[in-house]
Amino acid sequence: MQSLHLSGIELLAWRRKQLDHGGRQVDLDWLLDFGGGLRWTSLQKLILNPNRLVQLDQSLEELSQLWHQHLTDHTPLQYLVGRCPWRDFDLEACPDVFIPRQETELLVEFALERLESLQSSGRWADLGTGSGALAVALARALPAWDGHAVDCSSKALALAARNLKRLAPHSNCRLHLGSWWEPLKTWWGSFRLVLVNPPYIPQMIVEQLPPVVREHEPYLALCGGTDGLQACRDVIQQSINALEVGGWLMLEHHHDQSDSVLNLMEKQGLKELSFERDLHGIKRFAIGKR
Ligand SMILES: C[S@@+](CC[C@H](N)C(=O)[O-])C[C@H]1O[C@@H](n2cnc3c(N)ncnc32)[C@H](O)[C@@H]1O
Repeated sequence: MQSLHLSGIELLAWRRKQLDHGGRQVDLDWLLDFGGGLRWTSLQKLILNPNRLVQLDQSLEELSQLWHQHLTDHTPLQYLVGRCPWRDFDLEACPDVFIPRQETELLVEFALERLESLQSSGRWADLGTGSGALAVALARALPAWDGHAVDCSSKALALAARNLKRLAPHSNCRLHLGSWWEPLKTWWGSFRLVLVNPPYIPQMIVEQLPPVVREHEPYLALCGGTDGLQACRDVIQQSINALEVGGWLMLEHHHDQSDSVLNLMEKQGLKELSFERDLHGIKRFAIGKR
């Protein structure tokens, strides 16, 4: 990658000019960081002392083009730079595959803290893996375990495969194309930990999402049917057969679905039901055990 030097004064003038065209400062600074290689902390130092020299990985012209595209057709910056930092690693991102969200990082924490031992072996699954974010995190945290990542989108699986290969090269994670538990029938009854961030947004609400999401991220990854709960229902229904006795199912859901998802779990006979909250204090994760 080429590296370009320019003065801080020049860079800050460019930044002001881009913001005159519109957009949020936080997004432009994200682009400078992940597209231009200028860490946020370095940018803050530059604001205090603009006489410093700056080094960028891309020219201001290239960055202007990306910013312009983001402003005109609302393409998410993660798609434009092909990257998405998540937990302690840097995922590849690509169009047609859901961009992992910050709140989902917590699902991994809640999962790991419920396991009796991270060292022993076991079997995990990530249903609806998308970019493979959860699968990569589990593969890195549980290297002795047998992992399975499922998605019904072949584009998502191809991206998950690349992310797993680069970020968890020694993992025992198999990828499966298909619907939820269906491709995992061989291993039913043996899953100790299953994480799912399903499409859970009610159809009417998907239509009202901002264009940066609605017009670019896959509908299949967002829409959970009329009430948003269809994927949760499908996943929970078979969980009692697929989990091992004592195995955990942990699902992310919409901000107002906690009671409904926990009820679905209870009806299927899952036990030790609980919820966890997201970074805004909203009940966001439903947890149950066979
Ligand atoms: C909200 S995204 C979550 C992606 C990833 N787990 C994450 O947290 O970033 C939901 C994912 O479920 C997948 N999906 C939707 N319906 C599915 C189905 N019936 N079977 C398997 N995967 C499905 C979508 O393709 C998408 O990748």
